[in-house]
Amino acid sequence: MKNILHPPDDIRCMKTLNKDKIKTTVQVHCLSINEKKLQGIVPLLKNYLMKIEKFKPIQHIADNKVEIYLSPELIKNWSGLPNDIQSALEKNSVTENDLKIKNVELTYENFSAEDLLRAILPADKEGLSSFTKIGHIVHVNLREHLLPFKSIIGDILFDKVQGCKSVVNKVNMIDNTYRNFHMELLKGENNMITAVKENNCTFKFDFSKVYWNSRLCTEHERIIKKLNQQDVLFDVFAGVGPFSIPAAKKRCIVYANDLNPESYKWLEYNAKANKISNEYFQSFNKDGADFIKTMIKKHLPINLENENNIFITMNLPALAVNFLANFEGLFNPDELPNITKTPLIFLYCFVKGENYTELAKELILENFNCNVSDIIDIFRVRTVSSLKEMMRVTIRLTREILTTENLRKRKFEDHEDNNTKRSKDGKEQEESR
Ligand SMILES: C[S@@+](CC[C@H](N)C(=O)[O-])C[C@H]1O[C@@H](n2cnc3c(N)ncnc32)[C@H](O)[C@@H]1O
Repeated sequence: MKNILHPPDDIRCMKTLNKDKIKTTVQVHCLSINEKKLQGIVPLLKNYLMKIEKFKPIQHIADNKVEIYLSPELIKNWSGLPNDIQSALEKNSVTENDLKIKNVELTYENFSAEDLLRAILPADKEGLSSFTKIGHIVHVNLREHLLPFKSIIGDILFDKVQGCKSVVNKVNMIDNTYRNFHMELLKGENNMITAVKENNCTFKFDFSKVYWNSRLCTEHERIIKKLNQQDVLFDVFAGVGPFSIPAAKKRCIVYANDLNPESYKWLEYNAKANKISNEYFQSFNKDGADFIKTMIKKHLPINLENENNIFITMNLPALAVNFLANFEGLFNPDELPNITKTPLIFLYCFVKGENYTELAKELILENFNCNVSDIIDIFRVRTVSSLKEMMRVTIRLTREILTTENLRKRKFEDHEDNNTKRSKDGKEQEESR
């Protein structure tokens, strides 16, 4: 069914916003009653009112009269009202005679961004599937065919999204080291420093220079809920702190790291802004491998000795799996106390395919020298695109892993040694012949 409360058809493919052209007139049934009857009949009609932005379905007019506008999609005449509602209205002395047809002009103000964009963007191609608001910034990811419409998209989102002061389009894929985007300003202020609230903390950052994804809010919350006061968190790829800051606020002992100097700057800023005490929070600006080999190595033994629960978050899904080997043989056996509480790694990765759980498990086993039984949970975090899933794999970081040099490497070297020995032996044998 075509939505009657729809922008006019002739704005399809409009590229420059012309609000005067966005006008349409609809015929609406309207009950005209004395305002004394209003209280009795409004509850009866609440599901049948005309609902559209910036339009009041109940309007007081002169002479104690009130007009009640009914949804043109639902009510086309008196008998469009259910029988029980008709009878109840009649008991309140409201009859078919009170029902009038009115012309209502709808303008740009009455339509939502979604309605307008659906009416404007080419009908035969994929529309603007979503936009995200991060503080005052609304960002979109325009496909090639929508680029000619970027100006009108910017204008409409700027006008219609509450609190929006800037509209930006991501111009590259998120494939650089720091996982930030290049952006093109479509409308509004060129100020990318923004602030958001997540898990009872505030996060301020420069959206053009750091990674932030509001879609991960629930995943951040899931992890934070697993943590209790005095637990220890090593956050290897911390960003601006969406795991680390709420964890430290819960009085976990947090070691947060990010390679991007800009993320590190805002990580420190956010710790202060959220009044996190140094007792619970330390931040580092290192490569993840270096952080594991120095800071985790330094702080793990004492926390193991204290029998703290220890968690390690590794959220760099495209690459984190390559960092796992840094845990292998990190300690000589005599450097490590007995482990009574095994640390847990929350390793994030992407997999492509339907059997995502199996794929995630294979990925870990190919890259990390743990036992299958050390993989204790595999959880699908979100669907990134068709068939690309973001997964969280929980791995037990056993004493065996931490104190055994990379077996795969050793096996490889042993294999090479044997080959060298074999060829050397062969040579010696030849020489002795
Ligand atoms: C996907 S983001 C995750 C940020 C944050 N933990 C979150 O959940 O939103 C990955 C982060 O890893 C950082 N990063 C990239 N390569 C790194 C490396 N080699 N060592 C440490 N951090 C790195 C990026 O700067 C980025 O902030």
